[in-house]
Amino acid sequence: MSTSLYGGARHRRVTIVDLKSAKVAGEKWAMLTSYEQMTAAIFDEAEIPVLLVGDSAGNNFLGEENTIPVTVDELIPLVRAVVRGSSRAMVVADLPFGSYEISPEQALETSLRFFKEAGAMAVKLEGAHLATVTKLTSSGIPVMGHLGLTPQSLHQLGGYRVQGRADGDAIVEAALALEKAGAFAIVLELVPAELAAKITAALSIPTVGIGAGVNCDAQVLVWTDLVGLTESAPKLAKAYRNLRGEILGAAREFADDVRSRSFPTEDQSFH
Ligand code: KIV
Repeated sequence: MSTSLYGGARHRRVTIVDLKSAKVAGEKWAMLTSYEQMTAAIFDEAEIPVLLVGDSAGNNFLGEENTIPVTVDELIPLVRAVVRGSSRAMVVADLPFGSYEISPEQALETSLRFFKEAGAMAVKLEGAHLATVTKLTSSGIPVMGHLGLTPQSLHQLGGYRVQGRADGDAIVEAALALEKAGAFAIVLELVPAELAAKITAALSIPTVGIGAGVNCDAQVLVWTDLVGLTESAPKLAKAYRNLRGEILGAAREFADDVRSRSFPTEDQSFH
């Protein structure tokens, strides 16, 4: 079987071993967030190898201002839906703020819920919680790290700002330590492209960039940004379509058709 993450018939889900092989082969890959079954199925068909049920569901699905209020109970049904909607992608569950920082044991309990109740295949956590990463990975739970801008620490960081301009070495050290603790990949968010390139070269596990330049091993986008659903997307995102405009147009046309009695037609009627 080819080691490529793309193309050909794949009858099993992508694993952390496949992602490691991709790094060795120099194959770049894409990760997308997904919060329910429809997009999960579409992204799976598009051969996106990793789907992240991010706590960005807070501001992109649950109507929160940011990711901080999101709870484990809110994310579990979303992870379950994404697992059910996909058959090929590895599904990563984001550990919500407050669900893993207290102790490695708390993180293990939370991760076990995502695995047993939702079918997650890995978890992601923000920051360099090294003892926790060791605890989880030695318990059979693959961990994706997340460094740079860690949105759960929004208030501590003083806003959504580029990280590592002055203290890049600290991020390099944290990345190396996460790899040593057993992380299988690390998200690098909003860091200078040169710093992300340096970290990517120093690690044998893949880096997943978002606002971190072109040299990361993989790139992630929030799916609502990808398709232009977000009203004001951040600079780090690229909208490949204008779905907001499409949906707005469809809703307006429907309302007009109802008002003018053009819908339903005979095609949608029963006698
Ligand atoms: O929650 C999320 O969507 C994320 C990605 C931006 C990496 O953490």
